[in-house]
Amino acid sequence: MQPKTPSESRTTMTDMVLPGETNPLNNLFGGELLARMDRAASIAARRHSRKITVTASVNHVAFNQSVPLGTVLTVEAAVSRAFRTSMEVYIDVWMEDRYNGERSKANEAIFTFVAVDETGRPTQVPPLNPETTLEKERFEAALRRKQLSLVLAGKMKPDQATELKALFYPPSS
Ligand SMILES: CC(C)(COP(=O)(O)OP(=O)(O)OC[C@H]1O[C@@H](n2cnc3c(N)ncnc32)[C@H](O)[C@@H]1OP(=O)(O)O)[C@@H](O)C(=O)NCCC(=O)NCCS
Repeated sequence: MQPKTPSESRTTMTDMVLPGETNPLNNLFGGELLARMDRAASIAARRHSRKITVTASVNHVAFNQSVPLGTVLTVEAAVSRAFRTSMEVYIDVWMEDRYNGERSKANEAIFTFVAVDETGRPTQVPPLNPETTLEKERFEAALRRKQLSLVLAGKMKPDQATELKALFYPPSS
């Protein structure tokens, strides 16, 4: 399979925060943001694999900033690493300043998607070739995150998580 770059899967969704999507403090409801992230990430995973993709895991979400009613919000997703049938998708969320249009980072998240065939069975995806420094950093750390996610899901024994062990017990120690 021909490798692809993160920019080939990059998906950008811009939308406004409306009254029905906010909490009592008039900030965007967390679940609404998760849904927007899932939608953008799902499209990114589909663009990378050109297959049916399903959300396998939400590995990390940081709600660092609240997002007020009326904000123009951009959700940007791209595949950060492809394994055999699964893909890690990194999602960056940006708020746009009403007056000068400048973007500031609001939140980020990391999801795992799996490509499946028509019967729902996992199927192979193309490898990923990161290009920029940030893409390379995210690619490098992705195996660690995959192992952590599998251990937490009870799908990998902790002693098989070689990347995690190396983090806590580096070879030089
Ligand atoms: C996701 C799903 C296809 C995985 O099925 P499975 O039987 O665990 O399949 P496998 O064990 O072969 O795993 C497939 C891949 O997913 C990865 N994976 C599975 N669970 C994972 C998790 N919690 N975190 C990270 N990766 C995971 C595996 O490591 C494997 O990756 P690889 O092939 O790239 O090495 C299956 O659990 C499913 O269909 N879940 C429902 C998905 C869904 O409906 N999502 C929407 C929720 S409403």
